[in-house]
Amino acid sequence: MLKIGMIGAGFVAGFHERALRSVRDAELAGLCAPKGTEALAELARQNRLGETNVYKSVADLANAVDVLCIFAPNFARLEIMADIARAVEKGAELKGLIIEKPLARNVKGATELVRLARQTNVPTAYFENQIHMPAIVQARAQLAQVEKAMGPAHLARSAEEHGGPHEPWFWDPTTQGGGVCCDMGCHSIACGMFMLTPSGKPMDYLRPVSVNATMALLKWGKEPWASQLKARGVDYAATPAEDYSSVTLELEDPQTHQRSIVQAINSWMYDAPGLRLLMETFGPGYSYTVNSLQSPTGMFISDAAAAAVLDTELALEKSQASRGSLILQPNEIDLYGYIAEWLDALPAFEAGRDGALNVEYGKLITELIMAAYMSHEQRKVIDLTDPTVRAELESYVPLIQQGKGNEVL
Ligand SMILES: NC(=O)c1ccc[n+]([C@@H]2O[C@H](COP(=O)([O-])OP(=O)(O)OC[C@H]3O[C@@H](n4cnc5c(N)ncnc54)[C@H](O)[C@@H]3O)[C@@H](O)[C@H]2O)c1
Repeated sequence: MLKIGMIGAGFVAGFHERALRSVRDAELAGLCAPKGTEALAELARQNRLGETNVYKSVADLANAVDVLCIFAPNFARLEIMADIARAVEKGAELKGLIIEKPLARNVKGATELVRLARQTNVPTAYFENQIHMPAIVQARAQLAQVEKAMGPAHLARSAEEHGGPHEPWFWDPTTQGGGVCCDMGCHSIACGMFMLTPSGKPMDYLRPVSVNATMALLKWGKEPWASQLKARGVDYAATPAEDYSSVTLELEDPQTHQRSIVQAINSWMYDAPGLRLLMETFGPGYSYTVNSLQSPTGMFISDAAAAAVLDTELALEKSQASRGSLILQPNEIDLYGYIAEWLDALPAFEAGRDGALNVEYGKLITELIMAAYMSHEQRKVIDLTDPTVRAELESYVPLIQQGKGNEVL
Protein backbone atom coordinates (compact mmCIF):
# COMPACT_ATOMS: atom_id res chain seq x y z
CA MET A 1 0.00 0.00 0.00
CA LEU A 2 1.64 3.25 -1.13
CA LYS A 3 1.00 6.33 0.99
CA ILE A 4 0.29 9.32 -1.26
CA GLY A 5 0.90 12.92 -0.19
CA MET A 6 -0.47 15.82 -2.22
CA ILE A 7 1.06 19.30 -2.15
CA GLY A 8 -1.81 21.51 -3.29
CA ALA A 9 -5.46 20.86 -2.49
CA GLY A 10 -7.25 22.79 -5.23
CA PHE A 11 -8.96 21.89 -8.49
CA VAL A 12 -6.56 19.27 -9.82
CA ALA A 13 -6.00 17.66 -6.42
CA GLY A 14 -9.79 17.21 -6.28
CA PHE A 15 -9.69 15.42 -9.64
CA HIS A 16 -6.90 13.17 -8.34
CA GLU A 17 -8.84 12.36 -5.18
CA ARG A 18 -11.63 11.15 -7.45
CA ALA A 19 -9.14 9.17 -9.56
CA LEU A 20 -7.61 7.48 -6.51
CA ARG A 21 -11.01 5.98 -5.65
CA SER A 22 -10.38 3.68 -8.65
CA VAL A 23 -6.76 2.85 -7.81
CA ARG A 24 -5.90 -0.16 -5.64
CA ASP A 25 -3.01 -0.33 -3.17
CA ALA A 26 -2.83 3.43 -2.64
CA GLU A 27 -3.87 5.52 0.33
CA LEU A 28 -4.27 9.31 0.32
CA ALA A 29 -2.28 9.73 3.51
CA GLY A 30 -1.56 13.44 3.60
CA LEU A 31 -2.14 16.92 2.22
CA CYS A 32 -0.24 20.18 2.50
CA ALA A 33 -1.41 23.53 1.07
CA PRO A 34 -2.37 27.03 2.21
CA LYS A 35 -6.02 26.45 1.14
CA GLY A 36 -8.47 23.58 0.68
CA THR A 37 -6.80 20.85 2.75
CA GLU A 38 -9.46 20.30 5.42
CA ALA A 39 -12.32 19.90 2.93
CA LEU A 40 -10.33 17.58 0.66
CA ALA A 41 -9.07 15.48 3.60
CA GLU A 42 -12.64 15.09 4.85
CA LEU A 43 -13.80 14.04 1.38
CA ALA A 44 -10.96 11.51 1.06
CA ARG A 45 -11.79 10.03 4.46
CA GLN A 46 -15.47 9.77 3.48
CA ASN A 47 -14.42 7.97 0.32
CA ARG A 48 -12.33 5.54 2.38
CA LEU A 49 -9.06 6.61 0.79
CA GLY A 50 -7.33 6.27 4.15
CA GLU A 51 -6.64 8.35 7.24
CA THR A 52 -5.91 11.56 5.31
CA ASN A 53 -4.00 13.97 7.57
CA VAL A 54 -3.12 17.60 6.99
CA TYR A 55 0.53 18.62 7.38
CA LYS A 56 1.91 22.11 7.99
CA SER A 57 5.05 21.79 5.84
CA VAL A 58 6.33 19.93 2.81
CA ALA A 59 9.05 18.43 5.03
CA ASP A 60 6.48 17.02 7.49
CA LEU A 61 4.44 15.56 4.63
CA ALA A 62 7.59 14.09 3.02
CA ASN A 63 8.34 12.23 6.25
CA ALA A 64 4.83 10.74 6.42
CA VAL A 65 4.30 9.40 2.88
CA ASP A 66 5.88 7.29 0.11
CA VAL A 67 4.89 9.35 -2.92
CA LEU A 68 4.79 13.14 -3.10
CA CYS A 69 2.71 14.95 -5.72
CA ILE A 70 3.21 18.57 -6.73
CA PHE A 71 -0.32 19.75 -7.48
CA ALA A 72 0.39 23.39 -6.60
CA PRO A 73 0.40 26.42 -8.96
CA ASN A 74 3.14 26.87 -11.57
CA PHE A 75 4.75 29.82 -9.74
CA ALA A 76 5.28 27.73 -6.57
CA ARG A 77 6.90 24.70 -8.21
CA LEU A 78 10.61 25.43 -7.76
CA GLU A 79 10.34 26.40 -4.12
CA ILE A 80 8.35 23.24 -3.37
CA MET A 81 10.83 21.07 -5.28
CA ALA A 82 13.70 22.62 -3.30
CA ASP A 83 11.84 21.83 -0.04
CA ILE A 84 11.39 18.20 -1.18
CA ALA A 85 15.08 17.89 -2.10
CA ARG A 86 16.06 19.23 1.35
CA ALA A 87 13.66 16.83 3.10
CA VAL A 88 15.12 13.85 1.21
CA GLU A 89 18.64 15.02 2.01
CA LYS A 90 17.64 15.04 5.69
CA GLY A 91 16.36 11.47 5.51
CA ALA A 92 12.80 11.42 4.14
CA GLU A 93 12.36 8.15 2.27
CA LEU A 94 10.32 8.54 -0.88
CA LYS A 95 9.48 6.01 -3.58
CA GLY A 96 8.10 8.42 -6.14
CA LEU A 97 7.64 12.01 -7.11
CA ILE A 98 4.72 13.15 -9.28
CA ILE A 99 4.62 16.54 -10.98
CA GLU A 100 1.52 17.90 -12.73
CA LYS A 101 1.78 19.62 -16.07
CA PRO A 102 3.33 22.03 -17.03
CA LEU A 103 6.72 21.10 -15.59
CA ALA A 104 7.80 24.75 -15.39
CA ARG A 105 7.13 28.21 -16.78
CA ASN A 106 10.29 28.28 -18.92
CA VAL A 107 13.30 26.12 -19.81
CA LYS A 108 15.53 27.58 -17.10
CA GLY A 109 12.92 26.65 -14.49
CA ALA A 110 12.51 23.20 -16.02
CA THR A 111 16.26 22.58 -15.96
CA GLU A 112 16.44 23.53 -12.29
CA LEU A 113 13.42 21.41 -11.43
CA VAL A 114 14.91 18.37 -13.18
CA ARG A 115 18.24 18.96 -11.39
CA LEU A 116 16.56 19.11 -7.97
CA ALA A 117 14.36 16.09 -8.70
CA ARG A 118 17.28 13.97 -9.87
CA GLN A 119 19.35 15.04 -6.86
CA THR A 120 16.83 13.13 -4.71
CA ASN A 121 17.37 9.85 -6.62
CA VAL A 122 13.61 9.30 -6.37
CA PRO A 123 11.79 7.98 -9.49
CA THR A 124 9.60 10.59 -11.19
CA ALA A 125 6.36 10.79 -13.14
CA TYR A 126 5.31 13.84 -15.14
CA PHE A 127 1.52 13.86 -15.11
CA GLU A 128 0.26 14.51 -18.62
CA ASN A 129 -3.13 12.85 -18.39
CA GLN A 130 -4.14 13.21 -22.05
CA ILE A 131 -1.46 10.75 -23.21
CA HIS A 132 -3.14 8.18 -20.94
CA MET A 133 -6.70 8.82 -22.21
CA PRO A 134 -8.24 5.37 -22.74
CA ALA A 135 -9.94 6.60 -25.94
CA ILE A 136 -6.53 7.32 -27.50
CA VAL A 137 -4.61 4.41 -25.97
CA GLN A 138 -7.26 1.93 -27.06
CA ALA A 139 -7.61 3.38 -30.57
CA ARG A 140 -3.84 2.99 -30.92
CA ALA A 141 -3.93 -0.58 -29.63
CA GLN A 142 -6.74 -1.42 -32.06
CA LEU A 143 -4.76 0.07 -34.95
CA ALA A 144 -1.36 -1.36 -33.97
CA GLN A 145 -1.34 -4.04 -36.68
CA VAL A 146 -2.64 -1.60 -39.28
CA GLU A 147 0.12 0.83 -38.32
CA LYS A 148 2.71 -1.95 -38.66
CA ALA A 149 1.47 -2.84 -42.14
CA MET A 150 0.87 0.67 -43.47
CA GLY A 151 3.38 2.82 -41.58
CA PRO A 152 3.11 5.31 -38.68
CA ALA A 153 0.70 8.25 -38.60
CA HIS A 154 1.75 11.44 -40.34
CA LEU A 155 -0.69 14.09 -39.11
CA ALA A 156 -2.11 14.69 -35.63
CA ARG A 157 -4.55 17.41 -34.67
CA SER A 158 -4.94 17.98 -30.97
CA ALA A 159 -7.06 20.64 -29.34
CA GLU A 160 -8.13 21.54 -25.83
CA GLU A 161 -10.52 24.45 -25.44
CA HIS A 162 -12.77 25.91 -22.78
CA GLY A 163 -14.18 29.26 -21.66
CA GLY A 164 -11.26 30.24 -19.39
CA PRO A 165 -9.57 29.13 -16.15
CA HIS A 166 -11.10 29.08 -12.68
CA GLU A 167 -8.46 30.95 -10.65
CA PRO A 168 -6.89 34.41 -11.24
CA TRP A 169 -3.30 33.07 -11.08
CA PHE A 170 -3.93 31.07 -14.29
CA TRP A 171 -4.90 34.25 -16.16
CA ASP A 172 -1.87 36.24 -14.96
CA PRO A 173 0.98 35.40 -17.37
CA THR A 174 3.64 36.26 -14.80
CA THR A 175 2.36 33.67 -12.31
CA GLN A 176 1.18 31.00 -14.74
CA GLY A 177 3.89 31.38 -17.44
CA GLY A 178 1.72 32.70 -20.27
CA GLY A 179 -1.83 32.33 -21.48
CA VAL A 180 -3.54 29.33 -23.02
CA CYS A 181 -0.44 28.03 -24.85
CA CYS A 182 1.52 27.49 -21.62
CA ASP A 183 -1.54 26.26 -19.73
CA MET A 184 -3.12 23.93 -22.32
CA GLY A 185 -0.71 23.88 -25.27
CA CYS A 186 1.47 21.62 -23.15
CA HIS A 187 -1.34 19.00 -23.23
CA SER A 188 -2.06 19.31 -26.94
CA ILE A 189 1.58 19.32 -28.08
CA ALA A 190 2.45 16.30 -25.91
CA CYS A 191 -0.66 14.38 -26.93
CA GLY A 192 -0.17 15.22 -30.62
CA MET A 193 3.45 14.06 -30.48
CA PHE A 194 2.36 10.82 -28.76
CA MET A 195 -0.28 10.15 -31.44
CA LEU A 196 2.48 10.33 -34.09
CA THR A 197 5.10 8.31 -32.20
CA PRO A 198 5.42 4.84 -33.78
CA SER A 199 4.09 2.06 -31.52
CA GLY A 200 6.71 0.68 -29.17
CA LYS A 201 9.07 3.67 -29.49
CA PRO A 202 9.97 5.88 -26.51
CA MET A 203 7.92 9.01 -25.82
CA ASP A 204 10.80 11.26 -26.92
CA TYR A 205 11.63 9.20 -30.03
CA LEU A 206 10.53 11.71 -32.69
CA ARG A 207 12.97 14.54 -33.30
CA PRO A 208 11.42 18.03 -33.16
CA VAL A 209 12.44 19.88 -36.34
CA SER A 210 10.56 23.17 -36.28
CA VAL A 211 7.80 25.13 -34.55
CA ASN A 212 5.57 27.76 -36.11
CA ALA A 213 3.01 29.48 -33.87
CA THR A 214 0.39 32.21 -33.93
CA MET A 215 -1.11 33.55 -30.73
CA ALA A 216 -3.71 36.24 -30.11
CA LEU A 217 -5.90 37.86 -27.50
CA LEU A 218 -9.25 37.54 -29.24
CA LYS A 219 -11.92 37.70 -26.53
CA TRP A 220 -10.73 38.56 -23.04
CA GLY A 221 -9.14 41.91 -24.00
CA LYS A 222 -12.55 43.17 -25.19
CA GLU A 223 -15.46 44.56 -23.17
CA PRO A 224 -17.36 43.39 -21.20
CA TRP A 225 -14.92 40.49 -20.73
CA ALA A 226 -11.88 42.60 -19.80
CA SER A 227 -13.87 44.31 -17.01
CA GLN A 228 -15.09 40.93 -15.75
CA LEU A 229 -11.48 39.82 -15.44
CA LYS A 230 -10.52 43.10 -13.79
CA ALA A 231 -13.17 42.49 -11.14
CA ARG A 232 -11.34 39.22 -10.43
CA GLY A 233 -8.01 41.10 -10.04
CA VAL A 234 -6.65 40.39 -13.54
CA ASP A 235 -5.77 43.42 -15.68
CA TYR A 236 -5.56 42.42 -19.36
CA ALA A 237 -5.14 46.06 -20.44
CA ALA A 238 -1.83 46.22 -18.55
CA THR A 239 -0.71 42.58 -18.54
CA PRO A 240 -2.41 40.60 -21.29
CA ALA A 241 -1.92 36.97 -22.23
CA GLU A 242 -3.03 34.99 -25.29
CA ASP A 243 -6.46 33.34 -25.22
CA TYR A 244 -5.84 31.68 -28.61
CA SER A 245 -2.86 29.66 -29.74
CA SER A 246 -2.15 27.65 -32.87
CA VAL A 247 1.11 25.69 -32.99
CA THR A 248 2.47 23.65 -35.88
CA LEU A 249 5.20 21.28 -34.77
CA GLU A 250 7.20 19.40 -37.41
CA LEU A 251 8.80 16.13 -36.33
CA GLU A 252 11.24 13.68 -37.90
CA ASP A 253 11.57 9.94 -37.45
CA PRO A 254 15.31 9.56 -36.69
CA GLN A 255 15.44 6.15 -38.43
CA THR A 256 13.34 6.65 -41.57
CA HIS A 257 13.73 10.46 -41.75
CA GLN A 258 10.03 10.71 -42.54
CA ARG A 259 8.37 13.93 -41.44
CA SER A 260 5.12 14.27 -39.51
CA ILE A 261 3.15 17.26 -38.23
CA VAL A 262 1.27 18.12 -35.02
CA GLN A 263 -1.34 20.88 -35.18
CA ALA A 264 -2.05 21.97 -31.60
CA ILE A 265 -4.96 24.38 -31.13
CA ASN A 266 -5.95 25.88 -27.79
CA SER A 267 -8.34 28.57 -26.68
CA TRP A 268 -9.98 30.12 -23.66
CA MET A 269 -12.94 31.42 -25.64
CA TYR A 270 -14.72 28.18 -26.33
CA ASP A 271 -18.22 29.41 -25.56
CA ALA A 272 -19.79 26.00 -25.90
CA PRO A 273 -21.22 23.50 -23.36
CA GLY A 274 -17.90 23.01 -21.52
CA LEU A 275 -14.34 21.76 -21.93
CA ARG A 276 -13.70 19.95 -25.21
CA LEU A 277 -10.76 17.75 -26.16
CA LEU A 278 -10.63 17.04 -29.87
CA MET A 279 -8.00 14.74 -31.30
CA GLU A 280 -7.62 13.41 -34.83
CA THR A 281 -4.84 11.23 -36.13
CA PHE A 282 -4.28 10.39 -39.79
CA GLY A 283 -1.98 7.59 -40.96
CA PRO A 284 -1.60 6.08 -44.42
CA GLY A 285 -4.99 4.44 -44.97
CA TYR A 286 -6.33 4.83 -41.41
CA SER A 287 -7.43 7.44 -38.90
CA TYR A 288 -9.16 7.92 -35.56
CA THR A 289 -11.01 10.76 -33.85
CA VAL A 290 -11.73 11.57 -30.21
CA ASN A 291 -14.27 14.22 -29.19
CA SER A 292 -14.74 14.46 -25.43
CA LEU A 293 -18.09 16.25 -25.76
CA GLN A 294 -19.69 13.26 -27.44
CA SER A 295 -21.33 11.66 -24.45
CA PRO A 296 -23.92 8.91 -24.09
CA THR A 297 -25.70 11.16 -21.59
CA GLY A 298 -27.72 14.24 -22.44
CA MET A 299 -29.97 16.25 -20.11
CA PHE A 300 -32.61 18.91 -20.39
CA ILE A 301 -33.35 21.51 -17.70
CA SER A 302 -36.15 23.99 -18.33
CA ASP A 303 -36.05 27.68 -17.33
CA ALA A 304 -38.58 26.86 -14.61
CA ALA A 305 -36.29 24.24 -13.07
CA ALA A 306 -32.93 25.99 -13.55
CA ALA A 307 -32.96 27.65 -10.12
CA ALA A 308 -32.62 24.21 -8.55
CA VAL A 309 -29.27 23.45 -10.23
CA LEU A 310 -26.61 22.92 -7.60
CA ASP A 311 -23.27 22.82 -9.44
CA THR A 312 -23.06 22.53 -13.23
CA GLU A 313 -19.45 21.36 -13.06
CA LEU A 314 -20.66 18.11 -11.50
CA ALA A 315 -21.83 17.24 -15.03
CA LEU A 316 -18.90 18.56 -17.08
CA GLU A 317 -15.61 20.39 -16.42
CA LYS A 318 -15.87 24.14 -17.21
CA SER A 319 -19.58 23.76 -17.89
CA GLN A 320 -21.04 27.05 -19.17
CA ALA A 321 -24.79 26.63 -18.81
CA SER A 322 -27.35 25.42 -16.31
CA ARG A 323 -30.43 25.07 -18.52
CA GLY A 324 -31.56 23.89 -21.93
CA SER A 325 -29.96 20.90 -23.61
CA LEU A 326 -26.89 19.92 -21.59
CA ILE A 327 -24.11 17.37 -21.82
CA LEU A 328 -23.12 15.15 -18.91
CA GLN A 329 -19.95 13.08 -18.94
CA PRO A 330 -20.55 10.24 -16.47
CA ASN A 331 -16.87 9.50 -15.84
CA GLU A 332 -14.59 12.44 -16.64
CA ILE A 333 -11.79 11.08 -14.44
CA ASP A 334 -11.48 8.01 -16.63
CA LEU A 335 -12.22 9.85 -19.90
CA TYR A 336 -9.38 12.37 -19.42
CA GLY A 337 -6.80 9.73 -18.40
CA TYR A 338 -6.43 10.60 -14.69
CA ILE A 339 -6.96 7.03 -13.46
CA ALA A 340 -4.65 5.55 -16.10
CA GLU A 341 -1.78 7.88 -15.21
CA TRP A 342 -1.87 6.65 -11.60
CA LEU A 343 -2.04 3.05 -12.81
CA ASP A 344 1.11 3.73 -14.80
CA ALA A 345 3.08 5.64 -12.16
CA LEU A 346 2.48 3.63 -8.97
CA PRO A 347 3.64 0.18 -10.18
CA ALA A 348 6.65 1.90 -11.79
CA PHE A 349 7.55 3.49 -8.42
CA GLU A 350 7.11 0.12 -6.66
CA ALA A 351 9.61 -1.30 -9.16
CA GLY A 352 12.00 1.60 -8.51
CA ARG A 353 11.65 3.26 -11.91
CA ASP A 354 10.14 6.36 -13.54
CA GLY A 355 6.62 6.43 -14.93
CA ALA A 356 6.09 6.36 -18.71
CA LEU A 357 6.63 10.14 -18.71
CA ASN A 358 9.40 11.50 -16.51
CA VAL A 359 10.70 14.94 -15.61
CA GLU A 360 13.09 15.01 -18.59
CA TYR A 361 10.09 14.44 -20.84
CA GLY A 362 8.29 17.31 -19.07
CA LYS A 363 11.29 19.52 -19.81
CA LEU A 364 11.13 18.60 -23.51
CA ILE A 365 7.52 19.78 -23.60
CA THR A 366 8.53 23.04 -21.87
CA GLU A 367 11.16 23.58 -24.61
CA LEU A 368 8.54 23.12 -27.33
CA ILE A 369 6.17 25.54 -25.60
CA MET A 370 8.93 28.14 -25.32
CA ALA A 371 9.76 27.64 -29.02
CA ALA A 372 6.09 28.37 -29.78
CA TYR A 373 6.22 31.68 -27.85
CA MET A 374 9.50 32.55 -29.58
CA SER A 375 7.93 31.83 -32.98
CA HIS A 376 4.96 34.09 -32.29
CA GLU A 377 7.18 36.82 -30.85
CA GLN A 378 9.67 36.79 -33.73
CA ARG A 379 7.03 36.06 -36.37
CA LYS A 380 9.08 33.26 -37.84
CA VAL A 381 9.49 29.49 -37.96
CA ILE A 382 11.82 28.33 -35.18
CA ASP A 383 14.43 25.86 -36.42
CA LEU A 384 14.94 23.36 -33.61
CA THR A 385 17.78 21.62 -35.47
CA ASP A 386 19.91 24.78 -35.04
CA PRO A 387 22.12 24.47 -31.91
CA THR A 388 22.19 28.27 -31.53
CA VAL A 389 18.38 28.35 -31.30
CA ARG A 390 18.38 25.49 -28.76
CA ALA A 391 20.93 27.40 -26.68
CA GLU A 392 18.80 30.58 -26.89
CA LEU A 393 15.78 28.66 -25.62
CA GLU A 394 17.70 27.70 -22.44
CA SER A 395 17.41 31.22 -21.06
CA TYR A 396 14.44 32.54 -23.06
CA VAL A 397 11.55 34.08 -21.16
CA PRO A 398 8.63 35.07 -23.44
CA LEU A 399 7.58 38.74 -23.40
CA ILE A 400 4.05 37.61 -22.46
CA GLN A 401 5.45 35.78 -19.39
CA GLN A 402 7.47 38.88 -18.48
CA GLY A 403 4.20 40.86 -18.34
CA LYS A 404 4.96 42.65 -21.64
CA GLY A 405 2.25 40.98 -23.69
CA ASN A 406 1.11 44.36 -25.06
CA GLU A 407 4.20 44.32 -27.31
CA VAL A 408 3.15 41.12 -29.08
CA LEU A 409 -0.64 40.75 -28.72
N1 LIG B 1 -3.92 17.80 -15.83
C1 LIG B 1 -4.80 18.76 -15.94
O1 LIG B 1 -5.64 18.76 -16.83
C2 LIG B 1 -4.78 19.89 -14.95
C3 LIG B 1 -5.98 20.53 -14.64
C4 LIG B 1 -5.92 21.61 -13.73
C5 LIG B 1 -4.72 22.00 -13.20
N2 LIG B 1 -3.57 21.34 -13.56
C6 LIG B 1 -2.28 21.80 -13.00
O2 LIG B 1 -2.28 21.57 -11.60
C7 LIG B 1 -1.65 22.64 -10.91
C8 LIG B 1 -2.61 23.20 -9.86
O3 LIG B 1 -3.75 23.70 -10.50
P1 LIG B 1 -5.17 23.81 -9.77
O4 LIG B 1 -6.16 24.02 -10.85
O5 LIG B 1 -5.34 22.72 -8.82
O6 LIG B 1 -4.95 25.19 -9.00
P2 LIG B 1 -5.84 25.76 -7.77
O7 LIG B 1 -5.55 27.21 -7.72
O8 LIG B 1 -7.25 25.29 -7.91
O9 LIG B 1 -5.24 25.03 -6.48
C9 LIG B 1 -3.90 25.24 -6.10
C10 LIG B 1 -3.65 24.60 -4.73
O10 LIG B 1 -2.27 24.77 -4.42
C11 LIG B 1 -2.16 25.43 -3.16
N3 LIG B 1 -0.92 26.23 -3.12
C12 LIG B 1 -0.72 27.52 -3.52
N4 LIG B 1 0.54 27.88 -3.27
C13 LIG B 1 1.16 26.82 -2.69
C14 LIG B 1 2.45 26.60 -2.18
N5 LIG B 1 3.39 27.52 -2.25
N6 LIG B 1 2.70 25.39 -1.62
C15 LIG B 1 1.76 24.43 -1.56
N7 LIG B 1 0.51 24.58 -2.05
C16 LIG B 1 0.22 25.78 -2.61
C17 LIG B 1 -3.42 26.25 -3.04
O11 LIG B 1 -3.69 26.57 -1.68
C18 LIG B 1 -4.44 25.25 -3.60
O12 LIG B 1 -4.76 24.29 -2.63
C19 LIG B 1 -1.27 23.66 -11.97
O13 LIG B 1 0.09 23.56 -12.27
C20 LIG B 1 -2.09 23.29 -13.18
O14 LIG B 1 -1.43 23.57 -14.40
C21 LIG B 1 -3.59 20.29 -14.39
